[in-house]
Formats: sequence, structure tokens, C-alpha cells
Amino acid sequence: MLKVGVLASGRGSNLFALLQKCNSKRISAQIVVVLADNSQAKALTIAEEHKIPAIYVNPKAYSSKAEYNLALVQRLKSYGVELVVLAGYMRILDHNFLQAFPNKVINIHPSLLPAFPGLNAQGQALKYGVKYAGCTVHYVDGGMDTGPIIAQAVVPVLPEDTEEGLAKRILVEEHKLLPKVVGWIAAGKVKLKGNQVVVSN
Ligand code: GRF
Repeated sequence: MLKVGVLASGRGSNLFALLQKCNSKRISAQIVVVLADNSQAKALTIAEEHKIPAIYVNPKAYSSKAEYNLALVQRLKSYGVELVVLAGYMRILDHNFLQAFPNKVINIHPSLLPAFPGLNAQGQALKYGVKYAGCTVHYVDGGMDTGPIIAQAVVPVLPEDTEEGLAKRILVEEHKLLPKVVGWIAAGKVKLKGNQVVVSN
């Protein structure tokens, strides 16, 4: 069983989707801890409801970003975490964090990266007028929504789309893509070659 630690800041719907998949035993992964930088994050409640350690780590309680990152690493390591999943986590991880989990941190973003990184990716896509939007799961490399792409799912933009409608349809795909990728990693199917990710069958 691959031990997964999830970092979240809010709603937690991707966490929920991943939990469902883990509980179904269809992937060989187990969420062992959920950390949040926001005491009100629904992700914490979801974790508690599933009897998973749910810890609010208050960024304001640390004197620097480096200290905060170190606190996160310590907690994740204390639960034996092997893969870190950012599921709606709204902060950039520092170099020391990434060194503590080399090529073991993944993120889900609601756009077809490298297009539309950052906040409100769905709104950015709509405003730009792209015909296809979607979501991306990628390794985290210290930039904002950058790093080698593991998998993407495409969602057509409809002529009458609103930001809300598009975001909703992308989210449906996010909930499938993230658990799928975690399953691949747990099965040892994902290899990183330079900037390219190769997924074997
Ligand atoms: C998702 O759209 C994810 O792609 C982005 O933040 C959102 C988090 O939603 N990084 P949730 O907390 O998983 O519901």
C-alpha cells in the first residue's frame, strides 16, 4: 500500500474522490494523513469523517515560510508518507519540502497546462476563448502549476458555457483523473525521464 499524504486548503472534493477510490480497494494506496493551511477547510472534516488524521497547520504560527514547510515535512514523515498529493492546496512548496519528497509530490490543476496556471484557470480559459479546456495532474517542481505532466483530461468548451458550468464539468474529470494517477503511481507504472513522464500499461 502506497502511503499518501494530502495537502488541501478548501472544499476537498478531490480528496473525497481519492478516498472513495482508495476505499474501494481498486488502487493500492491509502491516505494516511490530511494537512490543511486553513482551519475551515472542508477537507479536514472529510478526513475526520473517514477516521483519517486531519491536521490544521497554521502558517501564522511559524516565523518563516521555511519553518512552515519544515513543519509540514515533519508531519508527513511522521505518518510515513511516500506520496504527497496537492488537492486544492493554495501555497507554493519550498525547495526543502520538494527535496524531502523528490519526485513524490503531485498536483491537480483545472486547466490543460501549461495554459492558464494560477487562480481561476477555468475563467481564464473561457475568457481566452479556447475550444478545449480540462485538467492536468503533474509533478510539482517549485513553480506555480509547473512540472512534468503525468496526465490530462480534455473537456470541450460549449458556446453557451459559463465559468461555473465549465468548472463543474472539469471537476467531474478531475475526480476521475487524480485517483487514476495515484493508482498508476502506486502500481509503479509512472516513470520520469527528464521532463517527460512515461506511463506503462
Ligand atoms: C480543484 O479545481 C483543483 O484542480 C484545484 O483546486 C480545486 C480544489 O478543489 N487545484 P477541491 O478542494 O478538491 O474540491
